[in-house]
Amino acid sequence: MKTSTLIGIASAALAVVILVAAAWVYKVSFADFDTHAEEGSHLALLGEPQYAVETLGVPETPTVLTDALTHSGKPAEVACATCHTTRAPAPTRRTEDLDEFHQGLVMQHGDLSCLSCHNSENYDTLKLADGTTVGFENVMQLCAQCHGPQSRDYRNGSHGGMHGYWDLSRGPRQRNACTACHDAHAPAYPQLMPVFPPKDIIPPEHAPHPEH
Ligand code: HEC
Ligand code: HEC
Ligand code: HEC
Ligand code: HEC
Repeated sequence: MKTSTLIGIASAALAVVILVAAAWVYKVSFADFDTHAEEGSHLALLGEPQYAVETLGVPETPTVLTDALTHSGKPAEVACATCHTTRAPAPTRRTEDLDEFHQGLVMQHGDLSCLSCHNSENYDTLKLADGTTVGFENVMQLCAQCHGPQSRDYRNGSHGGMHGYWDLSRGPRQRNACTACHDAHAPAYPQLMPVFPPKDIIPPEHAPHPEH
């Protein structure tokens, strides 16, 4: 065989290797958010066992508790769509407009309106900016469309924390959903306030508004 043919074959083989590697890197780094399991088919191909990535704190489709009781004596729950299929959606509604229902809901999230996230076609779901419907369990796709940098950091593991094994052939990994740490309506961190307010900083006799 001519040297040039050998070089040809070698570079074709090299190109294949580079393509496969690029596909692998793409899959590992940029695969879409999948809330329950990241498949690790690249390793499964090599016959190694694959453990799952579990995402904690993924929201379920919410419901509203009513005053009525079920047969077992628990408050009955109704789906969001129960009321919202009978009333016209209000695209620009914000927290301060709520005087009939959902009072007490605090929203401090840029200047988003309710229907920036909730799906006016079906209130049991959310929607992306391009109108695509997503279930509550896929809320991270919604967050990601407006928070690219944090979502990229999240995928790289530098935002949002993780437990368990980096190498999924050795054991499972746990991650937290965005909503495990950030309230979707008022996402500033921390979501959890310290249990005790810092009482000692101002002695009670000097506090501006004594309790009695
Ligand atoms: C018992 C009836 C009822 C149920 C159940 C209900 N809503 Fe509502 N919802 C209302 C009413 C009434 C308003 C208008 C509130 C106002 O103007 O004060 C409203 C307003 C809203 C809005 C503002 C946009 C708009 O179209 O007015 C959103 C978003 C919303 N609801 C989401 C939900 C979600 C999510 C659920 C399920 C967890 C839910 N609702 C369940 C009655 C209901
Ligand atoms: C940034 C996106 C976003 C915006 C804006 C938003 N929501 Fe929500 N909402 C969510 C998500 C996500 C959940 C589910 C949260 C969970 O279970 O952790 C939710 C849950 C709810 C629920 C059920 C649980 C609860 O907190 O009572 C109601 C009712 C609701 N939203 C109403 C509203 C109303 C009314 C507005 C406007 C004032 C609004 N939302 C604005 C994303 C949003
Ligand atoms: C439609 C776009 C949009 C969506 C969807 C959205 N956000 Fe935001 N978010 C914003 C804007 C706008 C701000 C305010 C940015 C600013 O003031 O710099 C913000 C602010 C924040 C902040 C900083 C809050 C603060 O007060 O410092 C956090 C954290 C956050 N969002 C988390 C989330 C999470 C988690 C989700 C998914 C449940 C989400 N966002 C969905 C647009 C969005
Ligand atoms: C384990 C808890 C945790 C999880 C999960 C988490 N975050 Fe955060 N996030 C934080 C903390 C803590 C901060 C504040 C410190 C900082 O700025 O890094 C923050 C800050 C932010 C900010 C505001 C940044 C700024 O500079 O104002 C945004 C936006 C945000 N997170 C979006 C997200 C999104 C989107 C997700 C899901 C892909 C997510 N976070 C998941 C804990 C978390």
